[in-house]
Amino acid sequence: MSAIRTELCNMLDIKYPIIQAAMGPFCTNKLAVAVSNAGALGTISITQMTSDPDVAGEKTLENINYVKKHAKNTFAVNTPVGKLIEPMANRIIEVTIEEREKDPKLKKQLKAFITSAGDPTLYTKKLHDAGLLHFHVAPSVYHAKKTEKAGADAVIASGFEAGGHTHSRPVHTLILVPEVAKSIKIPVIAAGGFCNAEGLVSALAAGAVGIQMGTRFIATEECDFHPKYKEAVVKAGEWDTVVVPGVLGPARVLRNKLIEEFEKKGASGVSEWELAKLKDLALLKAMEDGDIESGALPAGMVAGSIHEILTVKEVIEEIIREAEKILKNLKL
Ligand SMILES: Cc1cc2nc3c(=O)[nH]c(=O)nc-3n(C[C@H](O)[C@H](O)[C@H](O)COP(=O)(O)O)c2cc1C
Repeated sequence: MSAIRTELCNMLDIKYPIIQAAMGPFCTNKLAVAVSNAGALGTISITQMTSDPDVAGEKTLENINYVKKHAKNTFAVNTPVGKLIEPMANRIIEVTIEEREKDPKLKKQLKAFITSAGDPTLYTKKLHDAGLLHFHVAPSVYHAKKTEKAGADAVIASGFEAGGHTHSRPVHTLILVPEVAKSIKIPVIAAGGFCNAEGLVSALAAGAVGIQMGTRFIATEECDFHPKYKEAVVKAGEWDTVVVPGVLGPARVLRNKLIEEFEKKGASGVSEWELAKLKDLALLKAMEDGDIESGALPAGMVAGSIHEILTVKEVIEEIIREAEKILKNLKL
C-alpha cells in the first residue's frame, strides 16, 4: 500500500489523494474515467455554454451515463453555483440525485458532489439527504469558513495560480492552504499550481489531505480536449498565462492572439462586460475546432512546468512514487 494515504482516500474510497479538477465547459468524461481507473477521483464537468436548466440537465445525464459505463472506481460531479446560474446548478444537482437513486452501482461510485464559485449553503442539506458528500471550492479563508459553516464535508482551497476562474482578490496557494487548514476543522484539498510530487508533499505539509489538479490533466493522452490545446499547455512557459475578465468573474488563460486583441480592445474603452462575453464565446472555438489562437484556453500558471503529454496513470503514479522518495530522503 502507498505511504501517501490520507483521510481523503478513506472518504472517497480512492487509492491516491488526488482529485481531477472539473474543467467546464469542456467535456472531461474520458479524463474522469481514466483518473477513476488510475485510483484517484475523476470529476464530470458542466459541458454546456447555456444557462437553460433543461439542456444542462440532459447534458449532465449523458455525462453521468458515459462515465458510469466506463469507470471502475469513484467519481464526482461538479457545477459552479451562484445567482447568475442558480436554475442551471439546481437542475444539475436534481438530475444527479435522481439518477443516483435509481442505480445501486452509481450510488457506490458517485460519492461526492463538488460545487464551486457561489454560496455552498443552499446545497449542502440537499446533497447530504441524498447520501452524497459535499465539497466546495473556496478561494480564501473567509469562504472556507463559510463552507464549513454550511456543513460541507471538505474545502478545496484554490489559489491565485489556478487555471480557469479565480477570485477577484486571489491569494497565492502557498499562503492560502496552510491558513485555511489552520482555520477550519473539515479536511482541506489544495488546488492551484500542482503537477508534481514536490507540490503534493508541500500540500500535505501545509495541512491538506490531498491535491486537485486541472492543468496537469489537460496534457494527458486520455483528456477529452483538442490535441492542439494539450500541445499549447506543453509549449507554454512560465510567463504565458494571464488573468482576464469573464462573465462569471476573472479567469486565468493561456496568452494567445485572442488575448492580445482582448487587451487592446480593453484599452480602447469597450466595457468589461462586453470583453468578458467575447472571451467566453471564444471558449467554443478552443473546444470545437482546437483554434488555439482565437479561442480562449483556460490554464493555470503550472503550464510552465508541464513538459510532456503522458497517460493519466503515468502522471498519477509518478507523483506518488516521487513523493514517497521525497519523504524518505528529507534532510532532517
Ligand atoms: C480549462 C479549465 C476549466 C475549468 N472549469 C472549471 C469548472 O467548470 N468548475 C470548477 O469548479 N473549476 C473549473 N476550473 C478550475 C479547476 O477546477 C481547478 O481548480 C484548477 O484547474 C486548479 O488549478 P491548476 O489548473 O493549476 O491545476 C477550470 C480550470 C481549467 C484549467
